[in-house]
Order: sequence, then structure tokens, then C-alpha cells
Amino acid sequence: MSASRRPATAKNADDAREPLIQQVAVGIILPLRHAVLRAGLPLESACFPGDQLASTIHLAARAGDQVLACATYLASPYDGEPAYQLRGMATAPAVQGTGLGRRLLIHAEGLLDAAIGLRWCNARLTAIGFYARLGWTVASDVFDIPTAGPHRRMIRRLAAQPTPQPDSAPGGIAPPR
Ligand SMILES: CC(C)(COP(=O)(O)OP(=O)(O)OC[C@H]1O[C@@H](n2cnc3c(N)ncnc32)[C@H](O)[C@@H]1OP(=O)(O)O)[C@@H](O)C(=O)NCCC(=O)NCCS
Repeated sequence: MSASRRPATAKNADDAREPLIQQVAVGIILPLRHAVLRAGLPLESACFPGDQLASTIHLAARAGDQVLACATYLASPYDGEPAYQLRGMATAPAVQGTGLGRRLLIHAEGLLDAAIGLRWCNARLTAIGFYARLGWTVASDVFDIPTAGPHRRMIRRLAAQPTPQPDSAPGGIAPPR
């Protein structure tokens, strides 16, 4: 049988599919996070405080064994308000601009505690446009992070969910006045 007619194995069939977005252990995404965000520095420079906490959510876009994009959300207050910090946002250079970063952040919203409506991040100046496309806004002047260069803080506030009104529920009984 010629190579081109060889039946697909589980692995190469998997690789051909659209990348899957999955919640994963930090060890799965660390190599990509390091390669894209801390290249040339020790691997430990890509480990963040809180990576191992049960409340921390790591996401990967994977095609077979390959991790193509990653993101991490840590429960971390912003100005005293409950919030999630987005860290370690990275897409492999070969597939940047193909929508994986957007898919990761949209997928994340299904996993985060919906009662926490604020997200924040320290955005590299070169990535501000990406976050802005996804509804984030700039919330600080430029500041420097020694291992990663100039940044600005960005935030995204989810639209408040309407509180159900007792007398507007379908078939509801109006409360006594
Ligand atoms: C920034 C980064 C995470 C974006 O991820 P991505 O998978 O390439 O982004 P997507 O393809 O999902 O892009 C979503 C949208 O943002 C736009 N966009 C992506 N990167 C952008 C950038 N750096 N500047 C401006 N716009 C950008 C895309 O054109 C797309 O626009 P559209 O709405 O018109 O389609 C990725 O380019 C990356 O890893 N860069 C290097 C590391 C980095 O800077 N990480 C962020 C650290 S704060």
C-alpha cells in the first residue's frame, strides 16, 4: 500500500482536525508559554505564582500532541474587586492570526465563575490590539516588566446579567405592594 493510501491512525487523524480547546494541567502549556513569552530565559521564568492552585484555569488549543495556543486565568482581585487575571496568553508563531487566541478566550468564559465579572491583564504593547479586538480596554499608563518589556494594564468587564424581576417572570405572581 502506498504511503498516501495508508489508513489514518488515531494520531494523524487527530492532527488533521480543527484544534481542540481544552482545560489542561500547567505542564502541558509550559513549553509553549516559555517559547513564546520567555524565550532565552530559564524555563522557571515561565512558571507563575498560583499556577498550581485549584482555582487556576489553564487552557490549551491542541491539534493532536501539539499545543498551538495557551492561556491561564488566576483568581486575583483588581482594585479590591473579585476578578480573574489573564496570564500567559500565547499562540505559536506559525498559527498567529488564525483565531486561536480569540477561541481560547471565548471558551474560557464557559469555565470561569460567572459571578466574577471582571478580567484584567498586563498586556504587552504589541498585543494591545488583540485584546482591544476582544472588548478589553486600556486601564493604565505604560509600565515595564523586566522579563517581558513595556506593558499596559487592560481590563474587560462583562455585561451585567439582568436580575430577574419577580413580577416580570412569565406567569409570575406579582409581589404584594
Ligand atoms: C497576541 C496573541 C496572543 C494573539 O493571539 P492570536 O491567536 O494570534 O489572535 P487571533 O488570531 O485570535 O486574533 C483575534 C483578532 O485580534 C487581531 N490581532 C491578533 N494579534 C494582534 C496584535 N498583536 N495586534 C493587533 N491585533 C491583533 C487579529 O487580527 C484578529 O482580528 P479580527 O477580529 O479582525 O479577526 C499572539 O499573537 C501571540 O502569542 N503573540 C506573541 C505573545 C504575546 O504578545 N502574548 C500576549 C502577552 S500580553
